[in-house]
Amino acid sequence: MADKSFLDILNKYKQHHVLGHYHTLPAEKQNLFLKNLDKLDIDLVFSLHKNFSDIQEPSHHLKDIKPAEIISIPETSEEKAFYKKARALGESLIRDQKVAVLIVAGGQGSRLGFEGPKGTFPATPIMKKTLFQLFAESIKAIIERYNTSMPLLIMTSRENHRDTIDFFESHDYFGLKKDTVRFFMQGMIPSITPEGNLILKDEANLFTNPDGHGGSLKALHDSGLLRDLMKKGFTELFYCQVDNPLVKIADPVFLGCHALSKSQVSTKVVRRTNIDEKVGIYLSINGRDAIAEYSDLPPEFLSALDENGNIRYWAGNTAIHAFSLEFIKHINHRGYAVPHHRARKTIEIIDNKGLLTNLDSWKFETFVFDTIPLAERTCCMEVVREEEFSPIKNRDGADSPDTARVAMNNQHKSWLENAGVKIPSMTQVEISPLFALDKEELREKIKGKELHIQEDIYFG
Ligand code: UD1
Repeated sequence: MADKSFLDILNKYKQHHVLGHYHTLPAEKQNLFLKNLDKLDIDLVFSLHKNFSDIQEPSHHLKDIKPAEIISIPETSEEKAFYKKARALGESLIRDQKVAVLIVAGGQGSRLGFEGPKGTFPATPIMKKTLFQLFAESIKAIIERYNTSMPLLIMTSRENHRDTIDFFESHDYFGLKKDTVRFFMQGMIPSITPEGNLILKDEANLFTNPDGHGGSLKALHDSGLLRDLMKKGFTELFYCQVDNPLVKIADPVFLGCHALSKSQVSTKVVRRTNIDEKVGIYLSINGRDAIAEYSDLPPEFLSALDENGNIRYWAGNTAIHAFSLEFIKHINHRGYAVPHHRARKTIEIIDNKGLLTNLDSWKFETFVFDTIPLAERTCCMEVVREEEFSPIKNRDGADSPDTARVAMNNQHKSWLENAGVKIPSMTQVEISPLFALDKEELREKIKGKELHIQEDIYFG
């Protein structure tokens, strides 16, 4: 628990408004206040505040930018042979119990307008399975297919940690062994005003924000889970966000490409659909692979076309990665090496007259993709959007539950059509990962069966 030396730190940074408040509290509330401040890195906030005050607007160091080298979707026989080799290697990593899965699920579904952890959102077209169920079933199917073990790590935040665990508990971990599903919480960082004042949220708390998905690799280390995994012989981590129901969990081809290139951080990208799509872009910046967020790039860059009239910087970030555990250990060695970003946010606070009022604040967070330029060896692979990427972010419009349901339905229909089954255009199809993980498995499962599909159908 934070002790009273914490008060010295507040004094050092001239946070007299917080100290003044503290001294007005009764003893038990003072203890609660100190307890709630536990694990907050106040020195870090003030050092970030100083750094960001010294620069006017971030320059993003976008000096020497080029499209990065990216493994393309295989077309030639040579490329197909490479994929085959990658798949075999990826499968052997899975079989040899080298791969763990991390899903970052700390964010709030505020853009989606959904109360509760985003992983508990009912996503699938017919069965309305939640995102967590879908991912857990994929892992169960992989474990059965390869007769292996594959830990599932879920990063939560303070707001949704308990609800997330309760959800898995109440669904019996969707058939996974309880001790192979591990939950850990990301860190929090205090927000600060542009003038450099910490903000009181209520009697016993400062205003804080989750430290970004970049905090996942730090929390994995600090929680001791990284050490446990490495001790058990795991070497690679498959990473994805909770919002993409199309993700191919622990895709063996991807893991194989990652291993063949001895990569420390690997990434899957899709072609940007248009110049306004809100995705990060995979690039080579100053000679190193990196991802820059669309909001950090100038419009002329986002709209640049190549000589054939195609989007020049086409590689959209799916936020699907593979990390070597050694690399995660390395970036945590002697402090966490990932840089912070600043976002401006208006927050509501109760002022000293007891009235609700708006206040400008800065919040700091880290992005997991900022680990890419820290790596000596990276790998980036293009994948087919329709097969792997349809995130649920907004209540409606692009990247919404509707677009994701259509994508899942279309994908499963195409698997059936690939197996020679005809499906009426208005019919909905859903295939459980426990029935088939991919189109090849589906074809095997329904071989020799006469299927006449007229109505919505679930394969489970
Ligand atoms: C993110 C990427 C973007 C990528 C897109 C793909 C960033 C800054 N941008 O955008 O490059 O093209 O996904 O879908 O990441 N999360 C936490 N803790 C946090 C913050 C986020 O666990 O503190 C999790 C959320 O639960 C969510 C995911 O990270 O699953 C994405 O976060 P979000 O801030 O929504 O990023 P996007 O704008 O979706």
